[in-house]
Amino acid sequence: MRATIIHISDLHFHSYPQKFSECNAKRILGATNLLVRRAREFPLKRAKLLVERIQKMDWDHLVISGDITQLSLEREFSLAREVLGPLLKNDQRVTVIPGNHDRYVNQQHGTDLFTKYFGEFFGTNEVHVSKINQEWVIVGWDSAHPNDWRTAAGTVKSSTIRATEKLIHSFSDQTNFIVVNHFPLTFPEDWKFDRFHELYNLVPVRNWILQNPPIRLYLHGHIHLNWCHRLPRDSAPELLLVNSAASCSKLHTGQSSSFHQIVLEDSNVKVNPILLN
Ligand SMILES: [Fe+2]
Repeated sequence: MRATIIHISDLHFHSYPQKFSECNAKRILGATNLLVRRAREFPLKRAKLLVERIQKMDWDHLVISGDITQLSLEREFSLAREVLGPLLKNDQRVTVIPGNHDRYVNQQHGTDLFTKYFGEFFGTNEVHVSKINQEWVIVGWDSAHPNDWRTAAGTVKSSTIRATEKLIHSFSDQTNFIVVNHFPLTFPEDWKFDRFHELYNLVPVRNWILQNPPIRLYLHGHIHLNWCHRLPRDSAPELLLVNSAASCSKLHTGQSSSFHQIVLEDSNVKVNPILLN
């Protein structure tokens, strides 16, 4: 059985704080960064181009692995929802999880703007579940939480691991799983690791995933590069880790991929890099 997934991430729809209540220290710092860098890197026309390109492609399921916004402002979420609208017509075919920029600051009690605008593509349970076909199931994690002004880290909750464990055991041994989480588990060679920018519990989470061979794919973003890494397992299929971040940013010199098309053919996986020209 064949199925195709489009994986995009870190779209960073952006706006500026306009009300006094939106202007805390972290947002002012973030808005300054936006003004000098991010707004130029992520022009709105590139996001619209991305949507047009995906509309013309062959896919069964769309995965967006977080950082839809820049400062978690309501105008950013509503703009993202509007521009991405043509791709979001069937919530059964879409998975959206939050990134750290979608929980940029503490929001008013009972108001989570990610849930308000994109909650239907995650669901109300501890983990998001989308059954692609008899052989493949997507599990979406929410590891994003507000941090102090200098931190962009996340945490996979123990309740998320327990819920995923229970889910895996509820399916047959032949089922393959795709975990979607905003933060990376691997890094390029010579990468300067910043613990204030990554998962606080990266090592135990990575070890847990490696100890669960039914998890064949890990889709993420966060670091604005694209890559496809492989982690071997003893006498079990390898883990494939795909980063599709900054899918609609301006192209940099030498860039060869903006996002990925993932083809699942029975239990085999093929990852096709796509450049948004
Ligand atoms: Fe991020």
